[in-house]
Amino acid sequence: MEKTVLITGASRGIGFALAQQFLKNGFNVIATSRTGKIENIIHKNFEVLELDLSNEKTINNLAQILQNKNIKIDILINNAGIGPDLYTHEPEKESFKQTFDVNVSGTVFLTELLSPHINDGGKIINISSKMGSINMCVLTDSVAYRMSKTALNMYTKILVNRLLGKQLIAAIHPGWVRTTIAKGNVNGRLSPDESASKIFDFVISDFETGTFWDIETQSKIEW
Ligand SMILES: NC(=O)c1ccc[n+]([C@@H]2O[C@H](COP(=O)([O-])OP(=O)(O)OC[C@H]3O[C@@H](n4cnc5c(N)ncnc54)[C@H](OP(=O)(O)O)[C@@H]3O)[C@@H](O)[C@H]2O)c1
Repeated sequence: MEKTVLITGASRGIGFALAQQFLKNGFNVIATSRTGKIENIIHKNFEVLELDLSNEKTINNLAQILQNKNIKIDILINNAGIGPDLYTHEPEKESFKQTFDVNVSGTVFLTELLSPHINDGGKIINISSKMGSINMCVLTDSVAYRMSKTALNMYTKILVNRLLGKQLIAAIHPGWVRTTIAKGNVNGRLSPDESASKIFDFVISDFETGTFWDIETQSKIEW
């Protein structure tokens, strides 16, 4: 039977490329965007649902739709994320709150609600960033973004402990990718397709639960 992957934030960037990658490889893809629409992908195994991670109502609605349609997921990819303070040097209250609402609270509570819909033997993948690694941090920029990914990493570890023997969990650094997340990303080393293809290979592998994986170097990252 075809496996089902749910990818958040698939309207553009890495999420969009991931949706294409999974479709190409025979998966059913449930993708989310804030408008509930994604242009340029038409496929019989593709469904788009509305999700704004800063809006509790849309999180609850999404879970309710899965419940009503009795949809089971094999892989949840928490990809949606923002970085309004990327490369700035002073934390600023509004962008700090937005970042934590989306990258942390929204992602955590969505995952909690979707958890009962994930099959045993399934996988939860959090698209994190090596900017969230405490051990690697030697710079002072992007305070909210870095802290939000560190928090997501801790949630990843908590899921690992909770779901040991039941589901495989990983945090992934997708590389420096040419997306619109920040202006500087036009210079990114990877295209979204290159990143997504490597993410796909990792996700379908029999990876060790609790891995924090760097797509670019193909190696583990220190938490
Ligand atoms: N690009 C990089 O170099 C890089 C490096 C490390 C980590 N990452 C991580 O990779 C993930 C994808 O980033 P990207 O570079 O592909 O960024 P992107 O091109 O800006 O795409 C972000 C996606 O997240 C969605 N999104 C934004 N705000 C949202 C909200 N409130 N609720 C739900 N979805 C929302 C967007 O959908 P809408 O159309 O609805 O806005 C979009 O589909 C993020 O978690 C990011 O932190 C990226």
